[in-house]
Parts: sequence; C-alpha cells; structure tokens
Amino acid sequence: MKVGILGTGMVGQTIAAKLAENGDDVMIGTRDVQATLAKDKPDMMGNPPFRVWHDKNHKVKVGTFADTAAHAQLVVNALSGQASIEGLKMAGEKNIAGKIVVDISNPLDFSKGMPPSLFMSNTTSLGEEIQKAFPNAKVVKTLNTVNAYLMVDPKKLKDGDHTMFVSGNDAAAKAEVTAWLKKSFGWSDVLDLGDLTTARGSEMAVALWARVWMSTNNPMFAFKVVR
Ligand SMILES: NC(=O)c1ccc[n+]([C@@H]2O[C@H](COP(=O)([O-])OP(=O)(O)OC[C@H]3O[C@@H](n4cnc5c(N)ncnc54)[C@H](OP(=O)(O)O)[C@@H]3O)[C@@H](O)[C@H]2O)c1
Repeated sequence: MKVGILGTGMVGQTIAAKLAENGDDVMIGTRDVQATLAKDKPDMMGNPPFRVWHDKNHKVKVGTFADTAAHAQLVVNALSGQASIEGLKMAGEKNIAGKIVVDISNPLDFSKGMPPSLFMSNTTSLGEEIQKAFPNAKVVKTLNTVNAYLMVDPKKLKDGDHTMFVSGNDAAAKAEVTAWLKKSFGWSDVLDLGDLTTARGSEMAVALWARVWMSTNNPMFAFKVVR
C-alpha cells in the first residue's frame, strides 16, 4: 500500500521504517526536504539527524507534505500537535480528501516544562479539530497513547496484549485502521471507543501517561483495559 507519513520526528521515522520493512511504498513528509536532509546535529531529544536514519531506511521516499499526501492511499499524521492543522493545510485539502488520516498527534504544550499540559481538552480534541478543518478526510485517532517503539511492536512488552484505542466518525475507516494495526504492527487488543468525540479520552489519557513515565523513568509501558 502507498502510505504517506506527515512528520519526520521519532514517530514518523519509526512508523515509516516498519511499514517499509513490511513492503509498503512509503513516503515521509517534511516542510523543506533539502533542509531536513542537510541537518547534521541531533534533535532536542538527542536523536541523530534525519539523514542518519534515512541512510538506513533509504527505501522510504522523502517529500514535502503535499508530495507525501498526494502519494498516499493512507495518510498518517505524525506532526507535532501544535503544527498538525497547519501542516495538514500545507499537505493540501485536495490531497487528503476522501482518504483515511490516521491521527497520532497529541495536543501537548511543553511551554511551561514537564509534565506538558494539553492546549485543548474536555470539550474538544485535536482529532475533532482536524476532522472539522478537513471534513472530507476520514480521521481515525489511534496510537497516541503509547511511545513510538510500542506503536509498531506492541509485543515488545512481556504482556504484549495491551489495549490500543481507535476513535472515528466513519465506521468503515475505523474497521480498516483496526485491520491495519493488527496486520502491520501486531496489535491484538484494539478497542473501538466510538466517534471522534471519544478522542478526548485517549488524548487526555496522555496526561496520565506523562506522569507514569516521570515516576517510573521508563517510557516502555502501556495501558490495558481488563474486562
Ligand atoms: N514521541 C512519541 O513517542 C509519541 C507518542 C505518542 C504520540 N506522539 C505524538 O506524535 C506526534 C509526533 O511526535 P514526534 O515526537 O515524532 O515529533 P514532533 O517533534 O512532535 O513533530 C515533528 C514534526 O512536526 C513538524 N513541525 C514542527 N513544527 C511545525 C510547523 N510550525 N509547521 C509544520 N510542521 C511542523 C516537523 O516538520 P519538519 O519535518 O519540517 O521539521 C516534524 O515533521 C506529536 O503530535 C506527538 O504528541 C508522540
């Protein structure tokens, strides 16, 4: 499948690498291809420059946000929360219309340090705001409640049967994304929360995620809904 991943951070890189390894035709999108490939210093988190990753994952094409959305049958939003709507506008309404947008972003505000706060919550969610801004796209919120490595390899944890949530207004799109999570990454417990208003729950769960991370000093954990 042709997948377009908007975002060159840890999430974009990890998802792109796994899908390319699976045999998908993957493009990763950035604002300025030349500038991103020319970076030669680690990012704020100490991750190596993008081109170090790309040298190891040269099957992944690199394009602008618009190239990437146009390439895609399935679009993945792995942009920073604050830049998501602007970045999707740069990708172009016509390039995402009618397509599934797997939305992994979280509305995190790091301006006052750790833990981050949410710049929207309770009465709306970033998933809903993206859907409102792009009414012709089929937004499905998922994968935002685990760290990037677990997104593509849930069985990395001893109890790999932890829970992944999906929220979306289009039932067929949600079913397709659920099947994609299972087939591409090995998720086994995928819980359909309901329409996109339920993304308020999975986005607000990230406030708990950040505090568990800070108290255990370990990002390799996940939530399980024990029925
Ligand atoms: N890191 C995790 O493990 C994790 C886990 C769950 C959810 N998430 C969520 O996943 C998303 C991606 O996280 P990340 O850590 O991989 O990357 P990130 O640092 O949050 O975002 C990187 C991407 O955002 C783009 N961006 C930044 N400012 C922009 C602007 N003003 N206009 C347009 N684009 C802009 C960058 O574009 P350029 O390529 O042009 O620089 C880059 O592609 C976030 O919403 C995050 O909350 C992350």
